[in-house]
Amino acid sequence: MNKISIIGAGMTGSTAAHWLAEKEIADIVLVDVVEGMPQGKALDLQEALPIIGKDVELTGSNDYAATKNSDVVIITAGIARKPGMSRDDLLKTNAGIVGTAALETLKHSPDAIFIVLTNPLDTMAYLALKKTGLPRERVLGQAGILDSARMRAFVAMETGVSVENIQCYVLGGHGDEMVPLTKHSNVAGIPLRDYLPADRLAAIVERTRKGGAEVINLLKTGSAYYAPGLACAQMADAILRDKHLIVPCAAMMQGEYGLDDMYFGVPVQIGRAGMERIVEYKLDEEERAMFDKSAAAVKETHEAMKSLVQI
Ligand code: APR
Repeated sequence: MNKISIIGAGMTGSTAAHWLAEKEIADIVLVDVVEGMPQGKALDLQEALPIIGKDVELTGSNDYAATKNSDVVIITAGIARKPGMSRDDLLKTNAGIVGTAALETLKHSPDAIFIVLTNPLDTMAYLALKKTGLPRERVLGQAGILDSARMRAFVAMETGVSVENIQCYVLGGHGDEMVPLTKHSNVAGIPLRDYLPADRLAAIVERTRKGGAEVINLLKTGSAYYAPGLACAQMADAILRDKHLIVPCAAMMQGEYGLDDMYFGVPVQIGRAGMERIVEYKLDEEERAMFDKSAAAVKETHEAMKSLVQI
């Protein structure tokens, strides 16, 4: 059986475990600093599986040794910004957590593929790559599947068409400047630009960009976890089943799209080796401008992180 370790057994980590257990593709280990919590969640989930007849083993632990020989490592450990905490404080704290999580898991699983979810996602993936020294194929960040799924949900609500007919591609950094593509996104093959009136499409683009905040404002405490959890489950599934699936996710740029030495959300083909290739779309002028703006915002966070922690 394959093995997936999830570092951070909070809302997103444990929800990812839930979605993954249902897929029955790997044994799952949950690791967290909180004593008893990952053990309790793993046991609860283990006890649910007889009901759906799924045979995978769930383990909860406070010790990285439990992650030994993982095929995939998902990092969701981190803290949310608290009142009075500056953006830099948050960046420094989460960089410390993600750096340790990546190095500790790598010690026990030298061949694992890493998926980073902790925010700020693009920068945390960059940090994990630099800290571990792994080739870029083995360190990916997840936000693009989530952002694209949100856009697909909004298009389905607007059009009344099945989500199965709706393909959306949201690229760029996972922030307010993300780039929901309207030419490459489509309803049954018809570009969104041609399918929807411009004002309705603009509203969907805007709602997609603010998708995370919309959920946070409703929940009042905490942020989204169902969609983020399933997004990383899809990546782990594509890796373990060697699907050669093209999905938007954060990857290390080495000249693609004219970007270098930074993580950025782009279409990536993934399989058992992790990233197989980056797919380059032909962007029009408007998309290119949005891309550059988003890239500048991500680069700025990368630089802020570099000034705060040693990598
Ligand atoms: N090692 C392991 N786990 C840790 C560590 C650490 N050093 N520090 C914190 N954690 C754990 C917390 O104990 C908590 O259980 O990380 C978990 C984070 O879970 P939540 O607070 O529930 O946050 P969640 O909603 O899951 O989001 C986690 O993913 O999507 C991103 O923006 C989100 O950065 C955030 C992360």
